[in-house]
Amino acid sequence: MPLVTTKAMFEKSMKEKFAIGAFNVNNMELIQGIVEAAAENNSPVILQASSSAIKYAGINYLMGMVKVAAEEHPNIPIAIHLDHGPDFETCKMCVDNGFTSVMFDGSKYDFEENIRLTKEVVDYAHSHGVVVEAELGKLAGIEDEVNVKADEAIYTDPAQAEEFVKRTGVDSLAIAIGTSHGAYKFKGEARLRFDILQEVKQRIPNTPIVLHGASTVIPELVNMCNQYGGNIPGAKGVPDEILHEASISGVSKINVDTDLRLAMTAGIRKVFVEDPSAFDPRKYLKPARELVKETVSHKIKDVFGSANKA
Ligand code: G3H
Ligand code: 13P
Ligand code: ZN
Repeated sequence: MPLVTTKAMFEKSMKEKFAIGAFNVNNMELIQGIVEAAAENNSPVILQASSSAIKYAGINYLMGMVKVAAEEHPNIPIAIHLDHGPDFETCKMCVDNGFTSVMFDGSKYDFEENIRLTKEVVDYAHSHGVVVEAELGKLAGIEDEVNVKADEAIYTDPAQAEEFVKRTGVDSLAIAIGTSHGAYKFKGEARLRFDILQEVKQRIPNTPIVLHGASTVIPELVNMCNQYGGNIPGAKGVPDEILHEASISGVSKINVDTDLRLAMTAGIRKVFVEDPSAFDPRKYLKPARELVKETVSHKIKDVFGSANKA
């Protein structure tokens, strides 16, 4: 199956109440681990790359690997999405290079400017058959291209979400309901504002909703990193039960990057500690890829509910 947009998979997710995992990629092992897990579970899947991931891998390498992944797994729908596109030029570059979906992240701008800039991306992308995700509200957290302090994070206003979607024509909307990027999401109990999600869904029932910053920060993976020489104390994410609740409550796309970083790191660390003489990359990347596959498989089967929805 050629790479697809997220349109059909999102429609199915809204009708049948499940979520689709969107997994961040920047190398071959991540791509292989993710699509193998999706194929074994007969699940649709979204591969996504941030602008810094694209800079790291190079857009031609990245698209080359993603196209091969789709050729190798013709029975499942695979979309390739730009994560947190910072400007029109980056979105255009991805559209022009075969991405099937792009995110324009205008959440740092004020409401009117976010609408104006998002609309420019929507017009260009739609004229090329590509779908667009936008963001309203601000998530806390730090990644290469995303840096919002906790006290600057702002929940999405449902009334604004309705106006935003009407005026931009955007295909899906990322909302802020208490998640955040990275490995340190909550100090106390993990809690998401499901009341906001419900109100957004009431106002824009046909718009697929996206949850960023949605890694579980899987305790077993954090422990494994720490057991084999890492130092990641106090890391905490969104528990599986809460993500499952989101998946059956109108969230169509759940973004996962941190859990995959932890899986790769845990797998590599274990090999180095158990065999300090190891220096063949295949020896440490193979178990890392396997852990990525197990992690994605668990999410698809036990959390998001997308198994057998291809
Ligand atoms: O939400 C952002 C993603 O985790 C990507 O992070 O910009 O470090 O690639 P990155
Ligand atoms: P995590 O840091 O929780 O994995 O979130 C990833 C994300 O939102 C990518 O856009
Ligand atoms: Zn994000």
